Amino acid sequence: MRAWRPPSLRSLRGRIAVLLVLGFTVAAAAFYTLLMLFTRNWLGHELDLRSRALVQRTAEAVEVPLTIGDRAELADLVRRAAQEDDVVGVAVYRGDGTLAAAHVNDMQSWSAAEGEGAVAATARGLSVTPRRLRGTELRILETPVSRYSGASIPSRDEAFGLPEGGAGGGSGRLGWVRVEITTARLESAIATAGRAGLLLLAAVIGLALLASGLLLSVVVRPLGEASQLARAVAAGSLERRLPVGGPDELGTLAESMNTMAAALTESRARERAESEALRDAAEAVVVIAESARGAQDPGTVFRAVASQLRRVTRCTAVALAVPSDESPAPCFEQFEPPPPWGGLALGAQLDEGLAGQLWSPLPVRLVLRGVPHRFAAELSAEGFQAALLVPLALEIGPPAALLLVSTEAGAFTPSQVRVVAGLSSHLASALHVAQMKQRLEGAIEELERTREQLVRTEKLRAAGELASGIAHEFNNVLGAILGRTQLLRHRATHGTLATAELLESFSVMELAARDGAEIVRRLHRFSTGDPGETLEPVDLEAVLRDSISFTRPRWKNEAEAAGRNITVGLDATPGLWVRGQASQLREVFTNLILNAADALPRGGTIRIAAAPREALVAVVVEDDGIGMAPETQRRLFDPFFTTKGPKGAGLGLSVVYGTVERHGGAVAVTSRLGHGTRFEVTLPRVEKTVPPADSPPGAAPPVPTGDVLVVDDEPAVRDLLVEIVRTLGYGAVGCDGAESALARFRPGRFELVLTDIGMPGSSGWQLARELRAADPDVTIALVTGWGHQIGPDQLDGSGVDAVVPKPFSIEDVAKVLELSASRRDGDPGC
Ligand SMILES: Nc1ncnc2c1ncn2[C@@H]1O[C@H](COP(=O)(O)OP(=O)(O)OP(=O)(O)O)[C@@H](O)[C@H]1O
Ligand SMILES: [Mg+2]
Repeated sequence: MRAWRPPSLRSLRGRIAVLLVLGFTVAAAAFYTLLMLFTRNWLGHELDLRSRALVQRTAEAVEVPLTIGDRAELADLVRRAAQEDDVVGVAVYRGDGTLAAAHVNDMQSWSAAEGEGAVAATARGLSVTPRRLRGTELRILETPVSRYSGASIPSRDEAFGLPEGGAGGGSGRLGWVRVEITTARLESAIATAGRAGLLLLAAVIGLALLASGLLLSVVVRPLGEASQLARAVAAGSLERRLPVGGPDELGTLAESMNTMAAALTESRARERAESEALRDAAEAVVVIAESARGAQDPGTVFRAVASQLRRVTRCTAVALAVPSDESPAPCFEQFEPPPPWGGLALGAQLDEGLAGQLWSPLPVRLVLRGVPHRFAAELSAEGFQAALLVPLALEIGPPAALLLVSTEAGAFTPSQVRVVAGLSSHLASALHVAQMKQRLEGAIEELERTREQLVRTEKLRAAGELASGIAHEFNNVLGAILGRTQLLRHRATHGTLATAELLESFSVMELAARDGAEIVRRLHRFSTGDPGETLEPVDLEAVLRDSISFTRPRWKNEAEAAGRNITVGLDATPGLWVRGQASQLREVFTNLILNAADALPRGGTIRIAAAPREALVAVVVEDDGIGMAPETQRRLFDPFFTTKGPKGAGLGLSVVYGTVERHGGAVAVTSRLGHGTRFEVTLPRVEKTVPPADSPPGAAPPVPTGDVLVVDDEPAVRDLLVEIVRTLGYGAVGCDGAESALARFRPGRFELVLTDIGMPGSSGWQLARELRAADPDVTIALVTGWGHQIGPDQLDGSGVDAVVPKPFSIEDVAKVLELSASRRDGDPGC
């Protein structure tokens, strides 16, 4: 029970209570005041009339006795007059002021003295003199007693204080009467009336309080309850309701408040449900986003989405159907929980009618129970009552579908459907990414295939170009050798062969053969992907001279035979050195000279000049031949471009261009049709260097201590090696394979073994190991066309000491013999 509290002035109750109490109090106070005034006036007036009448009556009554001096009568009259209410005493005085008779009821209050009032009584008529005595008022009324006083009895108006007329005054006056009246009774009556009034006032205030209490209980309390309800509603407590009293305004108010609270309760519940759904959805989005981050496959994202959908919608199962190439409708691929359920299994096709609805972006809610449809019937057979089909639009192709099923008939409320649609978009994105990834992977694979094909084609093209280039270069060196050989044979046949020309031809042929060997090495380097080319200082003048010698059979012998006369002039500043490979540079100038010779069908001059130009060397090869049309000039460096028909391969200038570029130089051409052509090759110049001598001058050739065992299945190579070894002063034994070599080998007998690698039966490596086991001191060298590909690490532990690359020179063989001699003499540094 609540303790009573005085209502606050701020509350309606307080204000109404105060107003009521004040109103009633003021009204009661006014009433009381009026009552008191009226009582006082009325009683005062009545006393006044009564006392005046008494004094007049007494004055009239005493006229005769006073005249005749009947004292007894006077005393009796005075006594009777004094018996009236409120009379303190009555006295009759004679005209001379002496007391004729008196009767005093209250001597203490009686105020008159002997002879007093004579003057007043004679001077005026009736006089009333008030006097205070011990807290009460004493009224002294005096009136003269006149002769024939009956005729001068004052009128009623005169008795109330009007001035007395002169009819009775003067000579007829016998004496006067004095009556003293006390107002004590009057005041007591007034005091009694006051107390009664106060009681009335208290009663009225009490009534006012009662009335306000009643008013409060009838009007204000329901209002207070309504306000409490409003406060409670505002504070979130929606269970309270107001009692509805009746059909009056308060009842209507209570009813309205109750309706409002009920509506609020309902909307609060709805809000709470929606906010819970939103919170669930937000949590689900976070979980899905975290799971989807880094997830590569749609399956992972599906599982994350499905578990969140089941949590948010409380649905029973979820399945994902994705478009398939094999069927017109999407096929189920992912399930949560795992299939089968509801007649669905991996690869099952979505109903075609439903698949048609996927093109709309809105989810479709399906009622399953009692629907005459196979898809719905199968699902409802397992207790599912509602389903939601969510379309997942993909960038490419038909949409995928997400199917949610629930055993509750009221599942998938509109707000849940919205949440499901939102969450499913993550899955659509993942499917899209997967689709993109698949396409990208396909594109990358295709690209890779195309690239490999291109690389293959490019390799083939490069290999073809290289082969053509190599063939072209070989053709040039073979041409030099062949031309010289034919020339020598011709001269020898006709007996005109001079020794000097013979020696010159030999050196040209040797150089050409060496260039051929260099071409082979380049080919090897290309096949092994070795980019390294050792560039060394090259004497350009020597290169130009050798190029002219190489090409002599063409520009001189062939031309002369054809009746053409071509002169070649060289004007080279001596001591011009460039960094490069002599064989390749020879090839460059050989090509330019041959082109110039071809451009002189009726003979002419080829001028070759080399001169320094700042940090470069400029080499000019100029002819006064047929020249070139602009179209030819535009394409002349293109591989396989030729104007010479089957006679030309169209590779000479592309080889020139590539070689000069590799050497850090440039090629420029100027030509005028019918006037000739000028090629200018510029190369970076280097300081002149003197090439180191292969062996110290005057060093004696090694003295043989044993023979050389030569092992090669190729008789020509074997015989050449045997010949070279013997030329160098050694005894040589030739074997055609590893087996015969092992049979012939005796430890200590052979100082050096020269063996081929690839032979029928055992290889050169195998033979080396066996010979090394038999004789740790013998020097073993492999003679091979793949010599440039054998590194020092391959030689370690193989028993092989050196490699002689094919084609070999006499110097190469001499170097190996020196190596064996130094090993024999215990000098490992050689
Ligand atoms: N000095 C020159 N005068 C006129 N035309 C030239 C000259 N040098 C080159 N050409 C033109 O340039 C073309 C290409 O020359 P390039 O050396 O590359 O090939 P080619 O000489 O035709 O054949 P090959 O492969 O045998 O050298 C020639 O066919 C020719 O038309
Ligand atoms: Mg050419």
